[in-house]
Amino acid sequence: MSSQHFLSLNDLDANTIRNLVDRAIELKAMLNQGVEHTPLKHKTLAMIFSKSSTRTRVSFEVGMRQLGGGAINLTPNDTQIGRGEPIEDTARVISSMADGVMIRTDAHSKVELFAEYSKVPVINGLTDDVHPCQLLADLMTWQELRGDFKGGRVAWIGDGNNVCHSWMNAARLLDFKLIIATPPEFAPAPEFITLNQNAIELNHDPRAAAEHADVVVTDTWASMGQESEKAQREAAFKDYCVDDEVMGLAKADALFMHCLPAYREMEVTTSVIEGAQSVVFQEAENRLHAQKALLEYLL
Ligand code: CP
Ligand code: NVA
Repeated sequence: MSSQHFLSLNDLDANTIRNLVDRAIELKAMLNQGVEHTPLKHKTLAMIFSKSSTRTRVSFEVGMRQLGGGAINLTPNDTQIGRGEPIEDTARVISSMADGVMIRTDAHSKVELFAEYSKVPVINGLTDDVHPCQLLADLMTWQELRGDFKGGRVAWIGDGNNVCHSWMNAARLLDFKLIIATPPEFAPAPEFITLNQNAIELNHDPRAAAEHADVVVTDTWASMGQESEKAQREAAFKDYCVDDEVMGLAKADALFMHCLPAYREMEVTTSVIEGAQSVVFQEAENRLHAQKALLEYLL
């Protein structure tokens, strides 16, 4: 039997995503009440990080421990992956020992190839294309604070990047509207626009996008791997900072979200990220609870 993978939100249907969000909220309450819940005793998650991480690494490792299992961290440089062992071989070896594999890498085709050769579930911990685990935590945060997201309105302001692509998939799957304001040359990738066209609106005006939004989201202007484009990107994005004026156009009780790490006075001002509408640290904590629900479901 082939395993179920989580390479993109599109690997799950809307009901399953809703159930995972509900379960994550339940697991968070259980943890806070001190209820021990260890369904993954003796199970191991192998984590392969080809890019840096704070939240993803800590949340998966702590999550596995809380569920009764463990996690091992593999960096390409300390393993044969960095010396060019084929992904097909690595996947067969690791999946013959571990019970699940989490991968953070650049090209999305690498996680797809790994999954094709893996006997156990593969979880995407971020690729250049998408960041689906982030969306589970973001949807959970939205639901905890404002209830159902169906029919809601989200403004994405900034780069049409991996996190934006996952928000686009979420908007289609879960029936909310995503208004995307990017500089013209940094729009989301065409395949994500085509797939999600009924759920999104594209424009280049951050103020228009923010109007009447329930949630305003942004992310860094230069993602991992784009460090050499930093100066050029800062110039292109200078009018796309989420500041108090932009937040003032959204609904009065709008939430501000950011997957972190954030760059203050670039994509967001200090006053917004530290302000009363910002829920960025709740989002970060919810990575733990949302991924525990995912691990429980997949493993
Ligand atoms: N948001 C997020 O994925 O953070 P890390 O890069 O720290 O894992
Ligand atoms: N878009 C960012 C997200 C980091 C969590 C990146 O890919 O670097």
